[in-house]
Amino acid sequence: MRLRFGMVGGGGGDIGHVHIRGSRLDDMCDLTAGCFSRNKNRNAETAKKWGIEDTSRIYPDYKTMVEAESKIPPDDRLHFIVIVTPNNTHYEISKAFMEKGFHIFCEKPLAMTVEEGEELARIAKENGLLFGLAHAFSGYAMIRQIREMIENGDIGNINFINIEYPEEWLALALQDENYAKTLWRLDPDIVGPALTTADIGTHSEHLIKAATGLVPKRVMAKLDRIPSNLKVDSNACIIVDYGKGITGLIWVSQVAIGHGCDLKLRVFGDKGAVEWELQDAGKLKVTKLGGPPMYYSANSPYLYPESRRISRTNPSNPEGQFEAFGNLYRSFCEILSAKIKGYEPDTFVYPTVEDGVEGMKFVKACLQSDANNNIWVNVFD
Ligand SMILES: NC(=O)c1ccc[n+]([C@@H]2O[C@H](COP(=O)([O-])OP(=O)(O)OC[C@H]3O[C@@H](n4cnc5c(N)ncnc54)[C@H](O)[C@@H]3O)[C@@H](O)[C@H]2O)c1
Repeated sequence: MRLRFGMVGGGGGDIGHVHIRGSRLDDMCDLTAGCFSRNKNRNAETAKKWGIEDTSRIYPDYKTMVEAESKIPPDDRLHFIVIVTPNNTHYEISKAFMEKGFHIFCEKPLAMTVEEGEELARIAKENGLLFGLAHAFSGYAMIRQIREMIENGDIGNINFINIEYPEEWLALALQDENYAKTLWRLDPDIVGPALTTADIGTHSEHLIKAATGLVPKRVMAKLDRIPSNLKVDSNACIIVDYGKGITGLIWVSQVAIGHGCDLKLRVFGDKGAVEWELQDAGKLKVTKLGGPPMYYSANSPYLYPESRRISRTNPSNPEGQFEAFGNLYRSFCEILSAKIKGYEPDTFVYPTVEDGVEGMKFVKACLQSDANNNIWVNVFD
């Protein structure tokens, strides 16, 4: 079954095109409508670039799109909406489309607050709608490999997890004061109460869950504004208590000079350890206690089938971002098709609105911890 989707946002330079390319990898869905930008020319140019032939389905704003698209008969109606706008709009746009019965695939962070996130989760649940969230690192085949290894006891009982995620883009952007003034990510009204903790802190928190199955119980966080005149955090150190004696240490930064998306995950168990780096995503370092470091390569015959079946590379070739997004779209489309046709899907699970609520609670607890002399704060009530 081919699915039809519409997009809101994506007329900018960053993540919209990654969604569109990722959605096309498995050729299961078509971009049919959109409001890519509130700028008329950019909206039209983006629609043309991605081949939307019916110009009546290009809209000046999302409200017009909701109204018009909800009147389209089922045979031609959109199945789902992809939302790739700045953070402060995720809630209102998702809500408006869900209220008309559209399934959603949204960018992270899910919303500005836990309350908004929970309302979205409730609306999705009450209306039987899918709500996918673009925590795309969970789509990497080697992350599935780690999950399978942990579930099969290959590294024993987990005792410590470390994520470091340094980027330098903000330090570079701040060099030009006038440019920095145009960045929505520095405006708390648009980005939310946290920048780096919500942006790549939620990615880190979700990546640990995707790789290990662990959910944070408490956090102790120190959020830094570097430079100090920022209105939001740009660097954060977060100690996470996962219970059962398992501690996580997360460092995220967007002012780390010399680093560009240098995400690294390490998981230690009592029988071994695994280490994965985004910059070399098709490789996994595995060390069994007392043994030498070994390097597993993507799609190799010795990997678990769950990892191999979402690998698109030839064995030993690197994995990439489009493939990770593609895996999320494949999972979302398979589950949505199964729901529409009424059969049980057989697929790995994409991050959902509940993961987004968890991310919002994680950020809220970090902000509370930071504001109260870095005390322990429970993530869940
Ligand atoms: N999953 C990831 O790895 C990842 C990576 C980058 C960004 N993101 C997330 O994606 C979202 C967008 O980030 P970006 O970097 O692409 O931003 P961007 O500023 O490059 O693009 C945003 C686009 O949305 C459009 N837009 C804004 N408000 C709109 C509205 N009301 N209606 C229609 N279009 C509107 C803008 O014109 C622009 O084209 C953010 O929430 C961000 O956190 C996720």
